[in-house]
Amino acid sequence: MSIHIEAQKGAIADVALLPGDPLRAKYIAEKHFEGAVRYNERRAAYGYTGSYQGRRVSVQATGMGVPSLSIYVHELIAVYGVTTLIRVGTCGSIQTDLEIGDIVITMAACTDSAINRRTFNGLDFAPTADFHLLKAAYDAAVDRKIPVRVGSILTCDVFYDRPDFWKIWAEHGVLGVEMESAALYTLAARHRVRALTILTVSDEIQTHKAMPGDERERSLDRMINLALETVKRAAV
Ligand code: HPA
Repeated sequence: MSIHIEAQKGAIADVALLPGDPLRAKYIAEKHFEGAVRYNERRAAYGYTGSYQGRRVSVQATGMGVPSLSIYVHELIAVYGVTTLIRVGTCGSIQTDLEIGDIVITMAACTDSAINRRTFNGLDFAPTADFHLLKAAYDAAVDRKIPVRVGSILTCDVFYDRPDFWKIWAEHGVLGVEMESAALYTLAARHRVRALTILTVSDEIQTHKAMPGDERERSLDRMINLALETVKRAAV
């Protein structure tokens, strides 16, 4: 048991998918895993372990934002020995050629979060994905003919009331904004484990378009399949 996860040691696989939303964790376990067993209900941050095509795998909800994700990821790694972590989430697009439903494989995560600045004494760390997971995800996407973009995103601390904040990032080629990946990549680097974020565009910051509810499930399924195929290919 850890402070925020009530699982027994050994109840969590060495690979974990990480959605922000607890109900998405439940959906992934029920729809995509065989023999899923729930190991955590604390704070309704659901976590399940099951298998995918014979490979043991877990899914753990992280909640929203850097502080919440950091708590779950730290405990998964330090207490439960998870060594491969794949965030499956959504982002807002800040590029006009990146549309709702498109999938982003996140190579690097810029951030406006103060947490890394404090850790690195005011200097800037460059949070990046694990190369082997990134390559496995990209190869899987090519083989399955799933169109993807590979590039950088911005992990931000604030969701509302930030007019035009995205412009300088868009000018530097950043694809989209979300709220967790810089922390995931930094923690993975610190603990020498592997991490990757795969995102589906759920909204467009410039046009204010958002993904309709009924489309959400279908397009998120493509991302979840891609993440599970990545797990299979990058198994250690
Ligand atoms: N901003 C931050 N995080 C997000 C967004 C957004 O527009 N969409 C999905 N996650």
